[in-house]
Amino acid sequence: MTGAHATWQPTDIKPHTPRTSLDRNHIAQLDHSYRLEEVAKVVGMSALFVRKTTGQKEFLTPQHVLHLLDLDAFKETIVPRSKVISYLTTTHNAVQERNFIPNPPNYDLRLGNALDLIGTIPTSTVQCAITSTPYWGTRIYEDPQATPWADGEICPYGLEQTPEGFIRHTTEVMDSLAQVITDDGSIWWNVMDSFNTRTQIRNSAAEALRAMEGKDDRKWEEHFLRRYSAGHSYLKDGEQCLIPALIAERASQIGLYVKSIITWAKRSTLPEPHNSRVSRGLEYVIHITKTRTPKFDKRIYLTADKQYGGRDESYEAEKLSDVWVLNTSTGGNGHGAQFPTALPGRCIALSTEPGDLVLDPFVGSGNSGLAALHHGCSFLGFDISQTYLSIAKDRLETATRYLNY
Ligand SMILES: C[S@@+](CC[C@H](N)C(=O)[O-])C[C@H]1O[C@@H](n2cnc3c(N)ncnc32)[C@H](O)[C@@H]1O
Repeated sequence: MTGAHATWQPTDIKPHTPRTSLDRNHIAQLDHSYRLEEVAKVVGMSALFVRKTTGQKEFLTPQHVLHLLDLDAFKETIVPRSKVISYLTTTHNAVQERNFIPNPPNYDLRLGNALDLIGTIPTSTVQCAITSTPYWGTRIYEDPQATPWADGEICPYGLEQTPEGFIRHTTEVMDSLAQVITDDGSIWWNVMDSFNTRTQIRNSAAEALRAMEGKDDRKWEEHFLRRYSAGHSYLKDGEQCLIPALIAERASQIGLYVKSIITWAKRSTLPEPHNSRVSRGLEYVIHITKTRTPKFDKRIYLTADKQYGGRDESYEAEKLSDVWVLNTSTGGNGHGAQFPTALPGRCIALSTEPGDLVLDPFVGSGNSGLAALHHGCSFLGFDISQTYLSIAKDRLETATRYLNY
């Protein structure tokens, strides 16, 4: 679902699981038909499985959908079970005008909501998407705006009331991204998990570090935005939410291939004052494709510049594995949640050739753009924040001058 952004009214996060359920009587009376491929994605099954199960080839009735919702194989993807029919009904006749004309040769940065802008890109034109979205319940970014999501929630991405909401919204973005990726293209999704804790939501990693160093003596209740932990249907206080694993599972359920879940072993991390669990030292990068054999060349790992994804001989073996030991970003340039250029650099190097188009729909300060230009690709970046987009523009402008385009 796309739409205008709403002004955000800051609301504390209370992860109360809603108690809505399916309205069978209403569905039984409906007289619609839905494209089978579209239904398959929303019930978390392959189109082949849906064809075999329903005996239908192209279109399904609401009664077929009801049957699928009742199967043990049903899995939620973009909307919860109770909203599947209304989602299918609103999206069935929606026509998207894909009239985006990128402005490369080198790079093009646009201000706006990623979901809206991705929907305007012509299908199968992007070779590689690499991104790091907001993580759930962790950070207030500059210029936050509320997005109206397909499941009905209206909030800035990352500030959902429940981790389930965040996973659904991530799946919605990923589904829209999959439409614009070429058949042999790749999506690389950098994400970190969250814990279901009572915590304050901060503006930057620098602010979090100051707090760890004892330089912030505000109590939880004195913070601008807070997260509670009670009210979830199964998550207990202090428990890890398993968001990266659930995102990977959803990618598979909407018909994509999960090629690898890569561990980014960080060389430095924030201190964590917890005595009942180990500290976190990693993030994940999920490699997702549309087909079994995407464009992929491992050899570049041994020859590329270390700063742009090549092997770091001090920490990494000659064989490229699913554990990547990369520096964390220094956090300069005015954006408090950056990845290092080596991370997008490696993803881009492995899955593109010079001249290919790379997209980062949550571009922040532009590190993926710098990496794309370094590897000879053109680049498209989106961000909802003018503040961050200006930073990215300055950096890419300087890089193109330096690279002599
Ligand atoms: C984790 S940061 C990305 C940082 C980036 N990888 C870097 O190295 O600078 C996430 C970014 O997503 C942007 N953002 C949040 N919601 C968005 C939305 N709905 N559409 C586009 N950008 C959004 C934020 O403004 C923020 O810059």
